[in-house]
Amino acid sequence: MPKFLKLSGLVIGSLIVLIGSVVVAIYGLSNGRIHKRYTVNPPAIVVPTDAAALAEGERLVILRGCGGCHGENLGGDVMIDGVPGHIVAPNLTKGKGGIGNTYTDIDWARAIRHGIGKDGRGLWIMPAQDFQTMSDGDTGQIIAYVKSVPPVDTNWGKSSFGLLFRALLVTNQADLIAAEKIDHHATVHAPTPGITVAYGQYLATTCQGCHGPKLAGGPFAGSKAGEPEPANLTPAGELKDWRETDFIATIRTGKMPSGRQLNSAMPWQSFSLMTDVELKALWLYLQSLPPTPTGGK
Ligand code: HEC
Ligand code: HEC
Repeated sequence: MPKFLKLSGLVIGSLIVLIGSVVVAIYGLSNGRIHKRYTVNPPAIVVPTDAAALAEGERLVILRGCGGCHGENLGGDVMIDGVPGHIVAPNLTKGKGGIGNTYTDIDWARAIRHGIGKDGRGLWIMPAQDFQTMSDGDTGQIIAYVKSVPPVDTNWGKSSFGLLFRALLVTNQADLIAAEKIDHHATVHAPTPGITVAYGQYLATTCQGCHGPKLAGGPFAGSKAGEPEPANLTPAGELKDWRETDFIATIRTGKMPSGRQLNSAMPWQSFSLMTDVELKALWLYLQSLPPTPTGGK
């Protein structure tokens, strides 16, 4: 065999060993975090049963986008199926394959506000970081509604995490497990609803999942091919020349003051269910933000 072939064989051999060790290291490091069990016992919250509470719970489920991942009928859905892993947003109903029959009210509160499953596992991708500050009242109404939806029979299998997700986790490139970051002992102090900056900030946790922690928009990991990036909502973005009426009209109609129709990647149809008080509070809060360059975290 010519010498250079022998040499390249050696190089390839070493590369394979190196890649192999990296893969083993990634699996080893991620396993601890994937299988970690959390013991959190949140205080009991009231789960109402009256018709008004159920209707408000349905509106909140739409505003919070639960159906975007768990399916419109909350019967679950496969979110990702491919090289990064197989990620299932489970069936939340009382049907076959659903969690509805096994979950107690405390289990619901623990999953929604703490990102922890009934088995104590830190839930993946479930955006509990956006829900952790939700008031007891809102959380109770959401639970009431989810418990009331018609049963759906589905079997999506279990979530599993491939090499790419594990690599993102161990290199802390993405916040995949909300329970790791949430302060599980914090008490929730939700502001009184009203046209205030504080209430606007409370509502804006619904926007941060896409528009970023500082609402400065920019690249978003959840964007599908061809979708625009979430916009910069701070006064450094296009909203700086808007008035309150422009903002409300944009959310209610999906049409911006410039006349451009918003892409459906911005769930304005869901947010059009917001009350005037909610939209005015949000506007006040957006106006109070420091101007931040697009993409600023
Ligand atoms: C961005 C997508 C997304 C959104 C939005 C979302 N979830 Fe989830 N949720 C998930 C995923 C994915 C899982 C499963 C995680 C896992 O298996 O590790 C999950 C898990 C859960 C669980 C635990 C289920 C189990 O198997 O124990 C509950 C309960 C739940 N979600 C309720 C909700 C509710 C209520 C809302 C709205 C307030 C919501 N989710 C919004 C993605 C989402
Ligand atoms: C699921 C992701 C997602 C969520 C959640 C979301 N947005 Fe958006 N938003 C987008 C995307 C994507 C765009 C860009 C759409 C386009 O350019 O057509 C956008 C654009 C906008 C715009 C237009 C601004 C501009 O300059 O183009 C406004 C206003 C806006 N969002 C407000 C909000 C508010 C307020 C919330 C929370 C109540 C929110 N968004 C939640 C994805 C989201």
